[in-house]
Amino acid sequence: MLEVESVEKKFGELVALNGVSFKVRKNECLGIMGPNGAGKTTLFNVISGFLKPDRGDVRFRGESIVGRKPSSLVRMGLVRTFQLIRVFRQMSVEENVIAAGGGIEELERVGLEKKRGWLASNLSQGELRRLSIALALAAKPKMLMLDEPFSGLSVSESRELERIIKSLRDEGIPLVVIEHKLKELFRIVDRLIVLNYGEVIFEGLPEEAVRDRTVIEAYLGGNGV
Ligand SMILES: Nc1ncnc2c1ncn2[C@@H]1O[C@H](COP(=O)(O)OP(=O)(O)OP(=O)(O)O)[C@@H](O)[C@H]1O
Ligand SMILES: [Mg+2]
Repeated sequence: MLEVESVEKKFGELVALNGVSFKVRKNECLGIMGPNGAGKTTLFNVISGFLKPDRGDVRFRGESIVGRKPSSLVRMGLVRTFQLIRVFRQMSVEENVIAAGGGIEELERVGLEKKRGWLASNLSQGELRRLSIALALAAKPKMLMLDEPFSGLSVSESRELERIIKSLRDEGIPLVVIEHKLKELFRIVDRLIVLNYGEVIFEGLPEEAVRDRTVIEAYLGGNGV
């Protein structure tokens, strides 16, 4: 589905991504974890066309997509959400989804159909997050990338989002999810990669990650698990 190969990205002297390679398979939810500043969002920005890598290749459904614009990638079905929620707060839920090219169907998939008349600014954090996913779904994604979808959510909101993410995966949309909240992440992913200082230091199952010395050290040296 997606192949990232030896991607490198520098900001001046800072090496944000240092030879990152991994694959996302069909029908899987891949988790990306790693301490603050590890390069997770930069990796999303490279894949989704917001940043051009200095080296390396990104292939989506067999085709190299390096150099393509974000809008062109969205048309190809490669769709992302942002760490900071981007919706029009002064518009209603329904107006937001229509502006994104969708409708009631996308709101139903995230359980917001009853709130379609609400002003987005009156939604809870969990509802805003679900609206941002509805807007992504309006683009008819063939793959969905979510940057910290659980941040700021209560336990019950997180449970609801877990159900939605799992149902998207079961419908056949592969997902890549960046997340610091590891309990939530571990409940939704099939596989994980761990980034640290711009390098993939682990690839495997969640239960293997928590026993991995390199992973434990990266977190103990950083923000803690
Ligand atoms: N546009 C930019 N210009 C300069 N430096 C940047 C830019 N974007 C990111 N960086 C730096 O690159 C490194 C990786 O940042 P990135 O945002 O990818 O980390 P992250 O893993 O998403 O962190 P977090 O968990 O805090 O969201 C950081 O040191 C950051 O300060
Ligand atoms: Mg980030």
